Amino acid sequence: MITQRETWGTRAGFILAAAGSAIGLGNIWRFPGEAYEFGGGAFLLPYLFALLTAGIPLLLLEYTLGRKHQVGPPSVYRQISKPAEGIGWWQNAIAFCLSTFYAAVIAWALSYTYFAFSRGWGDQPVDFFVGDFLGAGGNLDFFEFRWPIFAVLVGVWVLVLTIMLGGIRRGVELANRICIPLLMVLFGIIVVRAVTLEGATEGLNAFFTPEWSRIGEAEIWLGAYAQIFFSLSIGMGTMIAYSSYLKKKSELSTTAVTVAFANSSFELLAGIGVFSILGFMSVQAAQPIDGLVGTGGGVAFITFPTILNEMPGGAFIGVLFFASLAVAGISSLISIVIVPMTSVEDRFGWSRKKTVAYLGVPMAIVSLLIYPTANGSSMVDAVDFAVSGYGLVLGGLATIILAFATGKLKSLAAEANRTSVLKLGNVWYACLGLTAVILTIVLFLNVKGQIEDLSDPEVANELVYINWGVGGAMIVFGLVMTVILYKRPLPVREEAEPEPALDTE
Ligand code: TRP
Repeated sequence: MITQRETWGTRAGFILAAAGSAIGLGNIWRFPGEAYEFGGGAFLLPYLFALLTAGIPLLLLEYTLGRKHQVGPPSVYRQISKPAEGIGWWQNAIAFCLSTFYAAVIAWALSYTYFAFSRGWGDQPVDFFVGDFLGAGGNLDFFEFRWPIFAVLVGVWVLVLTIMLGGIRRGVELANRICIPLLMVLFGIIVVRAVTLEGATEGLNAFFTPEWSRIGEAEIWLGAYAQIFFSLSIGMGTMIAYSSYLKKKSELSTTAVTVAFANSSFELLAGIGVFSILGFMSVQAAQPIDGLVGTGGGVAFITFPTILNEMPGGAFIGVLFFASLAVAGISSLISIVIVPMTSVEDRFGWSRKKTVAYLGVPMAIVSLLIYPTANGSSMVDAVDFAVSGYGLVLGGLATIILAFATGKLKSLAAEANRTSVLKLGNVWYACLGLTAVILTIVLFLNVKGQIEDLSDPEVANELVYINWGVGGAMIVFGLVMTVILYKRPLPVREEAEPEPALDTE
């Protein structure tokens, strides 16, 4: 028997938390690099298309599922169709993997915030990041710990698990009330400084100039969908988990639109900030921007320190930049970690204390064993690809197919429309259908490309196997959980009297 669940304190509390989940490392660390790699301005077209036809509709689907069922993802899927419970557990496996490496990148950002005060990375930021900081060798050496990163990562997990213990209102909501305004101030200052740098326009041109010739590549479309899914935190049950704490009468449609636009605005702003700064560098070093951009960790942890060394006031901007990375990351990490917590609590009737002890702590331990080691950054890349490149998109696709296959879409629309300002109907069904078709095609083409790569000894190395291994293991986990739990009914929730004090809003 589980007792009445908590709810968000206010509508603004939920919006802040949902935006806090969306705005994260994906916006600052992932988006600028992806956009650049996938054709600059030409990327923005598939990106916008994916935002409007897949991002917002799926956000609405996840909100509706969560608010309707008021339980974590596996229990939601089970209520739709018993064998579908595995989708929820698979998404939990994705959340587990994502949280372990996401926390590690936050730990890097925090370390770099500290280095930034004295530009402690010295005048060889590449060697510093790869060698002194990560201590990455060419090989996969497990258990060679980098103790300073280890210590910071312990701090990140202690903070996040403490927030989890605080629950929804006094934990998650409070944390976001602090993180989001802080982030806006920190990042606002950076962008203003960035666009006034000499050379900023150079960078912005590189960022926005479209390479139209590439618009037909399947890779670019998968990249755009993957970015939207990652950035909006969809496809993994995060938004189901968050909205399961909504009151039944909460409005959904304008909330989804607000969150989606806040997130994309921040993302564009981050792109503008980052590329203005790259433009500055390119003018200073008389080098084309091309050579300055690495993807993933490259821009933030290598290119940036190099530039900050040259920039007047670089130490100050550096502190702001890495601190905003960490703050944005924390509010997102909370929303990733809450997925398994909520899932287990609702499925097995565990208390929050118990899930933190038996699930949160092991998550932290896995994270600490894998990432603050000499292979940390290789593992981040490998798992990022399995999780963000495929996992989320497949997860979102599964949710859409399930809703169609079980004929539940109409009743879900009716459920959302009960309180929604914008009514869900044919446009919504069409967008979800279109998304399913596009994702199927794009995934097929990409997997085909990947399989071809496997036969190329240049590309097929240990990391590729880790990639496929992690991706496959997560799906197997979902299947196994379905079988194990098939006969076990959902716990009955004690129907508490509606609390009048909470319902007056
Ligand atoms: N959206 C976050 C970012 O942009 C990351 C994130 C949080 C996430 N929760 C998620 C990504 C759920 C996928 C699924 O950094």
